[in-house]
Amino acid sequence: MRRVVCPGSFDPVTNGHLDIIGRASRLYDEVVVAVLINIEKKSLFTVEERIEMLQAVTKEYGNVRVDKFHGLLVDFCKQQEIPAIVKGLRAISDFDYELQMAQLNYRMSGVETLFMSTNPEYSFLSSSRIKEITRYGGDVSGLVPDLVHELLVERLRG
Ligand code: PNS
Repeated sequence: MRRVVCPGSFDPVTNGHLDIIGRASRLYDEVVVAVLINIEKKSLFTVEERIEMLQAVTKEYGNVRVDKFHGLLVDFCKQQEIPAIVKGLRAISDFDYELQMAQLNYRMSGVETLFMSTNPEYSFLSSSRIKEITRYGGDVSGLVPDLVHELLVERLRG
């Protein structure tokens, strides 16, 4: 079974994330979407809420499993027998940070990181900007799944 992990905070999942997950799901037998449990970072949605959203929007792919992890990603990979991480690269600004993580993860464990170029339609997207725009009344429809859009508006403008 060829398995890959797609890790992140997903607070919340955007169409950019979904594009990477969907494309990875066509290349691998199973994609494990792993939500980081980070008690130091203030999040808008709880880990369970993020997992529910991810499960709903990835259901149609058929080979995507959503899980959570804390601590090192490579330890999660080891426990789950996942040999590779897939990441989307939006722009050169992502590169330094992602390269350092990829090299450290490889050095620690031998787990490979594969980079996929983000669909240009979504290369400007980030969960933080999505939250900011929604909070101040902007329209993010088309940039996040409809279900996520509804929950964002409810939570931020409720
Ligand atoms: O969506 P994000 O916040 O950019 O995702 C970052 C994430 C979760 C992929 C990264 O922070 C991570 O892997 N964290 C787990 C801790 C870890 O393994 N750190 C060592 C990296 S070399």
